[in-house]
Amino acid sequence: MQNKNYYITTPIYYPSAKPHMGHAYSSIVADVFARFKRLDGYKVFFLTGTDEHGQKIENAAKKNKKNPKDFCDEISKTFKDLTKILNLTNDDFIRTTEKRHSEAVKNLWNKLHKNGDIYLSKYKGWYSVSDEAYYNEDEVIDKDGKKISILSNSIVEWVEEESFFFKLSKWQNKLLEFYNQNPNFILPKSRKNEVISFVKSGLKDLSISRKSFSWGIKVPNDKKHVIYVWLDALTNYISALNYPDTQSSLFKNFWPADLHLIGKDILRFHAIYWPAFLLSADILPPKRVYGHGWILSGEEKMSKSKGNILDPIEIIKKYGIDQLRYYLVKEVSFGNDGNISTESIESCINSDLANNFGNFCQRTLSFAEKNCNNQVPKNYNFLEEDNELLNSFSLNLSKIRKDIDNQNLNEYIKFIIARSFDSNKYFNDSAPWSQKEKLERLNTIIYVSLEVIRKLSILLFPIIPQSAEKSLKSLNVSVSKISLESINNHEFLTKGGSLNNQGILFKKIINK
Ligand code: MSP
Repeated sequence: MQNKNYYITTPIYYPSAKPHMGHAYSSIVADVFARFKRLDGYKVFFLTGTDEHGQKIENAAKKNKKNPKDFCDEISKTFKDLTKILNLTNDDFIRTTEKRHSEAVKNLWNKLHKNGDIYLSKYKGWYSVSDEAYYNEDEVIDKDGKKISILSNSIVEWVEEESFFFKLSKWQNKLLEFYNQNPNFILPKSRKNEVISFVKSGLKDLSISRKSFSWGIKVPNDKKHVIYVWLDALTNYISALNYPDTQSSLFKNFWPADLHLIGKDILRFHAIYWPAFLLSADILPPKRVYGHGWILSGEEKMSKSKGNILDPIEIIKKYGIDQLRYYLVKEVSFGNDGNISTESIESCINSDLANNFGNFCQRTLSFAEKNCNNQVPKNYNFLEEDNELLNSFSLNLSKIRKDIDNQNLNEYIKFIIARSFDSNKYFNDSAPWSQKEKLERLNTIIYVSLEVIRKLSILLFPIIPQSAEKSLKSLNVSVSKISLESINNHEFLTKGGSLNNQGILFKKIINK
């Protein structure tokens, strides 16, 4: 039998400053996938949270004259609050300062140690606190008298200290074998090639403890060391499933994860270090790591250190949460970088939401109100053009499922836009207003249009849940009862059922 469980995660965010649009983007997209899979009958576990240890956080707390835990409590709360504001359906929110997490990390450490993959030595090399990452000599260049990473442009510093190491080099061939056997482990394809060539170029053992600061989980049996924050952070994906209790129903049902959705900046950690740690600990690696692009502001990645932040909360206050969710999914080609601006959000709201889907709902419902007694028509008879429109949904259902399983979000939204466009064209071409003498035809056009509103609303639900709920309410369809499968049914709506027009779905933005 097909496994109907689905485990999806976002990265856990650094609470070094309040959330910005880049964070909102990762979370919203993950929520779209989670909602889609639930709609398709899956039992979904959707995890997000905050990554609270390490030097970056310790420094940020110092700068704010707070102790690290108080500082994290405060900022982690803004991330947790954001899950509500973004209308996320996460099932858990993990903080790495929780006991359930630190116990899991210590346990994993002990397991790696027991399996002979940890040894004590000395680290000598470059480290970026901002990325919490070690860089090789050939990944660092001079810029304005400073050393920076060529991958992230962040400043690196020279570190020489005693450190525990993980025998990453030992796992190089096993990893290459794993990529080979699981060709879709890393998506999109272009990023997979980057990772494979990095692994092929030779993996060095990885420093997995630091001694020069104290904010982190202490190494079991050597309290002078704190565990490297990435080993700590990555473990969140299993600590939230009750690891080390691998017999717990959460772990058994949901591990290995179906999808770690991350930004492309943290691919190396997820696609190399994480599966290596897991293989070493005799745990199956996740099924998929998808590295999406960056939200840019101008030409640059949006980030706090660059000071080019668009605040998601401000945008939501101005335009609405569904508007933002739709805009990010539509405007940023998934997998690539994307520029966003207030001008383009306004034109997206007007052209896609108000003039396309919103207009179709409004014209159909107002027409039915005036000409069909505000009821779902009873007498109808589908003609070829009606079947064509209705079937254009059902015939594509397996493709839609496949697109989502391959994180082909661009195809999914393209499909919805094309069908909304076709629906408006169908309404125009069928011209129900000219069929007042032929009531069966008029009723058929309205029945078909109402069915299409239902189908479009179901497909849009993962992206714009509040508005889709509203349009379904207009049809008297309860959102708790909708399923993707019901798109195949062209006569779902009860004949003679009353309609309940909820009014305009999306206000047009008019700039005076
Ligand atoms: N704490 C680590 C992740 C640990 S996961 C085990 C981290 N945190 S972060 O807060 O710096 O960034 C987390 C994620 O936020 C990025 O991977 C990416 O998914 C998202 N984004 C942050 N800035 C972004 C943009 N400007 N654009 C799109 N997403 C970006 O890295």
